[in-house]
Amino acid sequence: MNSNIAFRLRLKPIATRLFIKSSVRQYSTPQAPLILSETIPSPHCGHIKILHLNRHDAKNAISRALLSQLKYELDSMKCKPTETRALIIASAVDGTFCAGADLKERRTFTFDDTRKFLTDLRATLVQIASLPIPTISAIDGYALGGGLELALSTTFRVISSTARVGLPETRLGIIPGAGGTFRLPALVGAQKARELILTGRRIYGDEAHQIGLADVLCEKQPVEESIRLASDILQGGPIAVVEALRAVNGWQTGGVTENEAYEIVLGTQDRVEALNAFKEKRPPTFKGQ
Ligand code: COA
Repeated sequence: MNSNIAFRLRLKPIATRLFIKSSVRQYSTPQAPLILSETIPSPHCGHIKILHLNRHDAKNAISRALLSQLKYELDSMKCKPTETRALIIASAVDGTFCAGADLKERRTFTFDDTRKFLTDLRATLVQIASLPIPTISAIDGYALGGGLELALSTTFRVISSTARVGLPETRLGIIPGAGGTFRLPALVGAQKARELILTGRRIYGDEAHQIGLADVLCEKQPVEESIRLASDILQGGPIAVVEALRAVNGWQTGGVTENEAYEIVLGTQDRVEALNAFKEKRPPTFKGQ
């Protein structure tokens, strides 16, 4: 197990219990689970879920089995103020976030298998991108091809300076097929995305941060930094955070989405609690109501 996880689990007996419970409950196979699920209490209410990709022998390459376990985790997540309020995707494998599609398995695929795999991968990444809660990729080590596309599907990316990320698909005679050609330009601009995708070059974390691919740069321990970012966000009202995210995601509608989202926060008890807390000079206690 990654030493950061072990460290956190030593400090947090509650998280340990949840971590063991969820991983055993979900994948009671004789092999190690391909994804380890951990929960950490969130400020105010609910929790932060962390999914640690755990395929040591293949640098977390996305096989059919890993993809279906990722989908299982997403399907079973309840995005509510009293349940999951933020998701972090991380790695339990030192030196790798995710090495992309499983190239050994791909070699055994027929055309139809490859199309089916791509359809499933795209749908899973759309599912992540459409979650109503903030999502964060904690990137350490390699995030290549589909591994970077996975990271591009989350709301934020926290990256270590030594991480290496890239979309090397043209070197494999293919192109990015799970969002790389449209999610990367949305973040870094079309011309920078052209350069990165056509050369397939790998960039370090600091360059990724500098061009806007990653939101937070850290020396090490991107999981700890991701928890810090999530906890900071979740100090906000549970309904306000969700509605703020929805409003910004709908920015192209002009004021339409913002107005809808404002109507929702207007009717919450949390809004009243924040006004009372301000008057009484104390921090608010939000209940997500
Ligand atoms: N699919 C399947 N297996 C993979 C893999 C992938 N995408 N990436 C790594 N592995 C396997 C390796 O084959 C190796 O297995 P082996 O021990 O049975 O030979 C094991 O993981 C360790 O990888 P290795 O290459 O020895 O580690 P490294 O530290 O020298 O290099 C990478 C790591 C990620 C840079 C290198 O493995 C790599 O370039 N992988 C392919 C990345 C890629 O092109 N992804 C895009 C797919 S569209």
